Amino acid sequence: MKFFIDTANLNDIKEANDMGILDGVTTNPSLMAKEGITGEQNILDHYMAICKIVDGPVSAEVISTDYEGMVREGEHLASLHKNIVVKIPMIPEGIKAIKYFSGKGIKTNCTLIFSAGQALLAAKAGATYISPFLGRLDDVSTNGLDLIAQIRLIYDNYMFDTQILAASVRHPMHIINCAEIGSDVMTGPLSAIKALAKHPLTDIGLQQFLADHAKGNK
Ligand code: G3P
Repeated sequence: MKFFIDTANLNDIKEANDMGILDGVTTNPSLMAKEGITGEQNILDHYMAICKIVDGPVSAEVISTDYEGMVREGEHLASLHKNIVVKIPMIPEGIKAIKYFSGKGIKTNCTLIFSAGQALLAAKAGATYISPFLGRLDDVSTNGLDLIAQIRLIYDNYMFDTQILAASVRHPMHIINCAEIGSDVMTGPLSAIKALAKHPLTDIGLQQFLADHAKGNK
């Protein structure tokens, strides 16, 4: 399973990249705003800064909601760097735009997926990735993991190339469960990625090893 980090925070991106396990980055307008990145040029510059840190797909989201606007914005975003993936919302105009970009060989990430039907449509339009929002489904008492499993089954039935990018991941168990189900990619915060490494028995064991080594070398 590929690991993407879901943030626009350059320090977090650097830290995850330095761990050597990072495959890509996803952002969205809320994550940009959280970092105080506003204004078209600043946002474009920020995507470039991210592309300089990580050698992998970087999702950059369009703001337009009409087909022409999405095509115009997406083409510009894709022209910025070879690793930019154009992130398009799951709305009818978005499906049209995904089909257009797929015909031009421009990679897309269809975002705000909350049902298997939406995932099926995006795959038929030729999306490179689809982003089902795991945590936000859990937030409304619906099992987000069940949706990932349902989409996995559908995509495998028809051998769709579209990759399932589990998004709105909140904690390490989400990551492990996504890996069990066979999600192609997960995107989550640095905290969830780092939490995978933690185990109290590892810490206790290491302390003991170091203490024993120190005793033996007195
Ligand atoms: O990748 C989608 C993500 O940014 C949404 O996460 O935690 O706001 O639901 P969250």
